[in-house]
Amino acid sequence: MDRRRTCPRALLSNGDGESAALLCLLLASLSWSTSGSSSFSTFHSEHRDWTFNHLTVHQGTGAVYVGAINRVYKLSGNLTILVAHKTGPEEDNKSCYPPLIVQPCSEVLTLTNNVNKLLIIDYSENRLLACGSLYQGVCKLLRLDDLFILVEPSHKKEHYLSSVNKTGTMYGVIVRSEGEDGKLFIGTAVDGKQDYFPTLSSRKLPRDPESSAMLDYELHSDFVSSLIKIPSDTLALISHFDIFYIYGFASGNFVYFLTVQPETPEGVSNSASDLFYTSRIVRLCKDDPKFHSYVSLPFGCVRGDTEYRLLQAAYLSKPGDVLARSLNITAQEDVLFAIFSKGQKQYHQPPDDSALCVFPIRAVNAQIKDRLQSCYQGEGNLELNWLLGKDVQCTKAPVPIDDNFCGLDINQPLGGSVPVDGVTLFTSSRDRMTSVASYIYNGYSVVFVGTKNGKVKKVR
Ligand SMILES: *[C@@H]1O[C@H](CO)[C@@H](O)[C@H](O)[C@H]1NC(C)=O
Ligand SMILES: *[C@@H]1O[C@H](CO)[C@@H](O)[C@H](O)[C@H]1NC(C)=O
Ligand SMILES: *[C@@H]1O[C@H](CO)[C@@H](O)[C@H](O)[C@H]1NC(C)=O
Ligand SMILES: *[C@@H]1O[C@H](CO)[C@@H](O)[C@H](O)[C@H]1NC(C)=O
Repeated sequence: MDRRRTCPRALLSNGDGESAALLCLLLASLSWSTSGSSSFSTFHSEHRDWTFNHLTVHQGTGAVYVGAINRVYKLSGNLTILVAHKTGPEEDNKSCYPPLIVQPCSEVLTLTNNVNKLLIIDYSENRLLACGSLYQGVCKLLRLDDLFILVEPSHKKEHYLSSVNKTGTMYGVIVRSEGEDGKLFIGTAVDGKQDYFPTLSSRKLPRDPESSAMLDYELHSDFVSSLIKIPSDTLALISHFDIFYIYGFASGNFVYFLTVQPETPEGVSNSASDLFYTSRIVRLCKDDPKFHSYVSLPFGCVRGDTEYRLLQAAYLSKPGDVLARSLNITAQEDVLFAIFSKGQKQYHQPPDDSALCVFPIRAVNAQIKDRLQSCYQGEGNLELNWLLGKDVQCTKAPVPIDDNFCGLDINQPLGGSVPVDGVTLFTSSRDRMTSVASYIYNGYSVVFVGTKNGKVKKVR
């Protein structure tokens, strides 16, 4: 079996690097599993500029959902189109602030593309959450069967998530206990509109699509809320400051987001081109509407003298027996595969030199616990300058901190500067790796990596 295989050009010309690689990956495994035939199915959007932004495969039915510019598609496993749902283009202007009924907009409206920003299956309610870039980022809940619109909440500020029209800047995680109302954790770039959009928040996701509480902040009061905003002082210091949310997942009692953001050094140079970027793991307790459990640590990996610190893609998975043994964890535990580019500069044009790394979630949690314990000993600062704006000393408090500690109103939000380092599995100095997925085969972890030029690498 080939270790590498070239994606059909047709696919690539119709997708951005990431989703094209993933769609190709899907096809590759499809054709390998059937008698080694090398004929690929392909799927094109109706218009060559309507590139693919997100892709998700239903774990039960195998249906493929694709979020593209101006469309959400439902495909069968062999990429036959089943439904095309139109989301744009529509008349819009980025300077119009909703709700339009309440705040009529006098700006010039132009036909604007709707870039898919988020595509998540809400399994227990059989619906798809699809959010776009139009109208400051409204979402639709679509029936999984036929993509019929169940609801499109768009009449209050909470319904607008972010007007950034670039894909790969927002991530959402749905958390739900069977039969109960769910929550949507959402992290997004805000493009300078920090007063309007929180960078991170948790929202209500009621079972009833008509509920008036749909997408309301889980908690919102004068003193505590389920949201974090970028302070305007931070933007005054670094005008291009923003946080890009590359990936997110739930594991155990926690929700995690993986981000890339500019560093906020003292004594600053303010040009976007010479900013240093850091990738960070952000962790919150699932059940913490006050966000007191917020902890954020830098992460990346190293091989030899080379540091890989610019996160490109990630995938939560299980390790399989063989990798589990070598990581000294069990095969049932979660591990995170992540791709990083070399260094910390030029996040928007990352170097081709890139690494595939693995992080046992247990190790991430252990490092966060150490960090919490040392801060509750009163050692050092909270180390979260972009959010706190200054050095804030850790407060000594005799609080037992166990594995499931969810924070108090002191010593939060907590940052850190010692990176969580992963285990470097594979590096490649050319053809930047840009996407990753994995599964278990005969106890082995098999990782598929997609590259910038449309290759798929298969790594055992
Ligand atoms: C693709 O799958 C659908 C349903 O899964 C099936 O009806 C159809 O015949 C398949 N088409 C091809 C070309 O295999
Ligand atoms: C939005 O409105 C402003 C002011 O009316 C106008 O200058 C601008 O071109 C409009 N933007 C688009 C994309 O149409
Ligand atoms: C995003 O917006 C910018 C500026 O408003 C525009 O130039 C660009 O074409 C838009 N991207 C898409 C995919 O529509
Ligand atoms: C492996 O993990 C166990 C329990 O998690 C721990 O007690 C042991 O010290 C670890 N061994 C190594 C070699 O790290």
